Amino acid sequence: MEVPTPDENEIVDIIKKTAAEDSSLNIPDDAIREITLALKGLTENEIAYVLQRACKNKESNKDEILDEIFSEKKNVVKKSGFLEFSPPRWKIESIGGLDNLKQWLFKRQHMFTREAVEAGVPVPKGLLMMGISGCGKSLAVKTISSLWNIPMFRLDMNLVFSGMYGSPEEAFHRALKTIESVAPAVLWIDEIENALGLDDSGQRIASHIFSSFLTWMQEKPPLIFIAATANKIQALPAEVLRKGRFDEVFFCDLPSKEERADILKIHLLRNNANPDEFDFKMLQIMTEGWNGAEIEQAIISARTEAFYENRPFNQRDLETVMSRIVPLSDTMEQQIKAIRSWAFSRATPASKYGKSAAKR
Ligand SMILES: Nc1ncnc2c1ncn2[C@@H]1O[C@H](COP(=O)(O)OP(=O)(O)OP(=O)(O)O)[C@@H](O)[C@H]1O
Ligand SMILES: [Mg+2]
Repeated sequence: MEVPTPDENEIVDIIKKTAAEDSSLNIPDDAIREITLALKGLTENEIAYVLQRACKNKESNKDEILDEIFSEKKNVVKKSGFLEFSPPRWKIESIGGLDNLKQWLFKRQHMFTREAVEAGVPVPKGLLMMGISGCGKSLAVKTISSLWNIPMFRLDMNLVFSGMYGSPEEAFHRALKTIESVAPAVLWIDEIENALGLDDSGQRIASHIFSSFLTWMQEKPPLIFIAATANKIQALPAEVLRKGRFDEVFFCDLPSKEERADILKIHLLRNNANPDEFDFKMLQIMTEGWNGAEIEQAIISARTEAFYENRPFNQRDLETVMSRIVPLSDTMEQQIKAIRSWAFSRATPASKYGKSAAKR
């Protein structure tokens, strides 16, 4: 039997009881309601423990107490083992191109605030990103938590399936319960086709997990946003893509000529180079058909080689390195064609240059 965590009334009772037992606790009366909401999802023991830590002998104000509670929740999630806190380190400005996707994220920036929730604006449910490897899917997901200002947790499906935490069904169920307890939050599921227990042809090898996930997505508490990425998109069954599960399904293609310039600039700056000293026209031509990860790698290699000679890297270094790199799109032409034709009819292009992006 599953014992649920205390509901709001019970939490208020626990707060009162804890405060009555220990007079050194300072729990501001006007903050009880918010503290109660913040404590949802914790067990009775955890609540008592957090209150002791956050309110003991302190002139703490409401915000400090809430911060303490949220950081405790992160610890609770960490203890569960398979959910990993993903720190809000990535800014949306670090994505080159993918303007449609960025616009979408910007427009939903304030949807998880109390004002939006109280005004009854429908809260976004989730986003699925599919596409060619190395084009910024994981990077884009990592920017959500700093842009929206809510914590993000990555669900490690390999651990769920590992058996270390009981049967995969149990572990998965527990993961979903844990994430519910820390709402509002983003749940990041990387390579969802593996997460759903699908093999290459889309056959379900863990169908219990698959169906409970779909049900959960339909009925999940509204303040969890799911950010999923997929590579083997042909393996995704139609139920996953059906409207009503994800708000939007984006396709990340190879970057267009303009987007490659954006990406080059971002990574040049990150590697302490001055973009004005580089010939972008030439670099755009040399990187035709490249993904973002390959562009980044070329810049890092050029920097490393010049560092060996004790000097900053320049256009020539970059061109030398680039002439040696064989992009994925050369070796996987057929696969990429197949991914494209599958995705164009089912997903929205993440790039504003749309369907012909990579050919430019
Ligand atoms: N559009 C982009 N703008 C800036 N950097 C990019 C972009 N695309 C890729 N990169 C760089 O390449 C790295 C790898 O990209 P990312 O991990 O997001 O790819 P992915 O689409 O998730 O690939 P995979 O399908 O293999 O997981 C990023 O960390 C980033 O440094
Ligand atoms: Mg990825």
